Order: sequence, then structure tokens, then C-alpha cells
Amino acid sequence: MNRAKLYSSASEMQHRDAAEALSRHVGSMTWLDDGSESVLDVGCGSGEVTRRLLLPVVPATGRVVAVDASESMIRFASVRHRHPRLCFRAIDILDPDMRGKFPLGFRKVFSFFCLHWVREQRIAMKNIYDLLVPGGEALLVFLASSPIFDVYQQMAAVSRWSKYTKDYENYISPYHHSKTPSQDLKTLLSDVGFHVAYCETRERIFVFDGLPQLKDAIKAVNPFLDRVPKDMHEDYLSDFLHESKKLKAKVQISNGKLSTKYELFEVLVKRVKQ
Ligand SMILES: C[S@@+](CC[C@H](N)C(=O)[O-])C[C@H]1O[C@@H](n2cnc3c(N)ncnc32)[C@H](O)[C@@H]1O
Repeated sequence: MNRAKLYSSASEMQHRDAAEALSRHVGSMTWLDDGSESVLDVGCGSGEVTRRLLLPVVPATGRVVAVDASESMIRFASVRHRHPRLCFRAIDILDPDMRGKFPLGFRKVFSFFCLHWVREQRIAMKNIYDLLVPGGEALLVFLASSPIFDVYQQMAAVSRWSKYTKDYENYISPYHHSKTPSQDLKTLLSDVGFHVAYCETRERIFVFDGLPQLKDAIKAVNPFLDRVPKDMHEDYLSDFLHESKKLKAKVQISNGKLSTKYELFEVLVKRVKQ
């Protein structure tokens, strides 16, 4: 994901869901106001959620570090969301030396709409565990399944697009085809060492007001578009919409508005042990 400017203006759905998850779970986390509250945001993207939603819930004495694997996202976020208690760094959550980079660790880790991008779930969750100090907590919000992943699969079967999208499985949530996503994730989190306070999927619906809004939202997160020649982008997007419309159980269109139904993980975990 490298379209930082577009993502910053075309991520209303992610913004809404992050705000709701924060309002549901932040109150049940333990916050200290003695200056020791250190917070990591994993996969901060263009930084809107970090700056506008996360920073305001952190005590005024606390600090936030926001990381993202994409250098262009970090460049954009660092300029757009400059703040004395916030710093942005280009780091991949799969980095083998995470704790070396942050020797003091964090009291909180947050991550919104990032972890479905990560195939190596065990490494990511273990790194988050290792980054937390004992007593530290993490709130993880990400897609368990979404019609967008079905469309990636369908587009890979369309001969015109298959050469650009044949590795589509790398971009589908690891839980998309699971019949027991919460159980799978709970097992993984417990194996890694977490105490799992909450790990459920929530069915969510988002209504796109019209075609331009939907196209921007698709463009902002689509991992294949950079491979498609520019003069074919409009065709790709219209085929993408055509394929979306086939998913009648998950995508509905009426009065020019398109509503999409997806499953979102909300996970609250704690590192108890030393
Ligand atoms: C959809 S954006 C979410 C941005 C922001 N958290 C929000 O809720 O609006 C997902 C971000 O995750 C980042 N990402 C994907 N894989 C990552 C990884 N392995 N480590 C760190 N960031 C990653 C992408 O670069 C992208 O900026």
C-alpha cells in the first residue's frame, strides 16, 4: 500500500471501525498517568487514525510511536501529522529484531486494519507479544473476511487480469476461508503466550455513497493496481465492480449506493508474564 494521500481521504470505513473499537475497549484497558504510558501503533498507514483517534485516548503524559512497512506512508504521515508526542518510523512488524529496535518495549500496542495483510501471523503476534512489557495490553482490529478478498480471487480467474494478480492469495486475510476464525486466532494468541481477554469477529456493514467513493476506496488499498498499466486502470476498476456485484450475499446495490458486509476481528490481549 503506497497511495498515502488517497488512503488518507478514502478510508472512512476504516476510520469508523477504528473509532468504534476504541470506544468499546479503551475503557477496559489499564492506563497510567505517571509518564510511563508508551504506545505503539502497528501499520499506521497515512496516520489519520493514529493522530485523530489514538493519540487523544492516550494520557497527556504518554507517547505514541507509529510504524508502517511502507516508507511512503511514513513520509506522508510524518509531514501531515507532526506532533510532539507522536513519532513515525518505517518498520515492518515482521522485523526479526523488533525488541532490539525498541529495547524498553511498550505498555500498549494498537493495530487497525493492518494484520490481515500479514501472512506470517505467528511471527507478527509473537513480535507484538515481545514488544509488550509484562502487564502490557494490545488491541488488534483487522479483517477476518471481506468480499474484497473474494473479488481478488475472481479477478485472478479473468484472463485479462490474471497475470497481474496470480499471487492474490498473499493478499487475502489468513482467516478469510476459515469456518472458525475466532477460535483459530485465539489458539494462536494463547500459543504465543497472551492472556486473551476478548477475541471475536463482528459483522459489519459499510455503505458507499456512490461509485466515485467506492472506486477511491478500492484504489487506496488495492495491491495489484500498481502492476496494471495506467491506461488500463479504469477497465480494471470497472471489472472489479462487475465482479463485486456477483457477490449477492455480501454486496448489495440500491439507489446508486453499494453496501458491503464483512467480518472484523476485535482482539484484546494481555502479556501477563515476565
Ligand atoms: C489499510 S492501512 C491501515 C492504516 C491505519 N492503521 C488505518 O486504520 O487507517 C494498512 C497498513 O498496514 C501496513 N502494513 C502491511 N503489512 C505490514 C507489516 N508487515 N508491517 C507493518 N505495516 C504493514 C500497510 O503498509 C498499510 O499502510
